[in-house]
Amino acid sequence: MTQPFEVQSYVAGATRKGCAITLAPMTPKAAKELGGACADMGPWNRYGIDATALTATFAVPSGGGAFRYQIEVEGTLVGVLIVLHPWLVGPYVQFLAVLPSWQGQHVGQAVLHWFETQARANKQRNIWLCVTGFNASARAFYEAQGWQEAATIPNLVQSGVDEVMLRKQLF
Ligand SMILES: CC(C)(COP(=O)(O)OP(=O)(O)OC[C@H]1O[C@@H](n2cnc3c(N)ncnc32)[C@H](O)[C@@H]1OP(=O)(O)O)[C@@H](O)C(=O)NCCC(=O)NCCS
Repeated sequence: MTQPFEVQSYVAGATRKGCAITLAPMTPKAAKELGGACADMGPWNRYGIDATALTATFAVPSGGGAFRYQIEVEGTLVGVLIVLHPWLVGPYVQFLAVLPSWQGQHVGQAVLHWFETQARANKQRNIWLCVTGFNASARAFYEAQGWQEAATIPNLVQSGVDEVMLRKQLF
């Protein structure tokens, strides 16, 4: 059985209009562009997590159980995915963002489906992620993809704000 999330490029499905969605190992240039864009988006702007911090997170080379991908649609940078594996009897989505002008085009759905397919192919029992309690839109998105609440973690990132741990049991 091959290891999931190897550092290589993947085709992760297609947009609503049928354009190919690709996951590719994160480059320093993409890390900077995506760091700047994500700092202007919720939930990170509400937390005050700035472009420098996000760029630094994205720019670390994949390895040691953390896999960082830039999401592209036919060569255009549209988002970021970071996966931790192994994690808790299955892999964990540490970061998922689709840039605002690409949201609603089925990019997030295709990327999550790719993540689940990788995990299933490797007989992983669970897949995991955390969503911020106030991020109602993302919570509705994950619910629509079949994820379920597993735990609420108060004060994880900021006092007075819950993070909600979501799980999909695969086997
Ligand atoms: C949340 C996010 C990843 C979703 O990705 P996306 O590409 O915009 O979503 P998709 O187009 O793939 O949505 C697929 C399906 O999920 C459902 N869905 C998506 N957003 C929804 C919402 N706000 N309410 C209800 N259902 C929703 C719909 O069924 C949708 O399919 P449809 O439009 O054909 O009905 C993306 O919007 C994003 O990056 N948001 C900002 C950052 C963020 O919150 N990241 C998550 C941090 S945990």
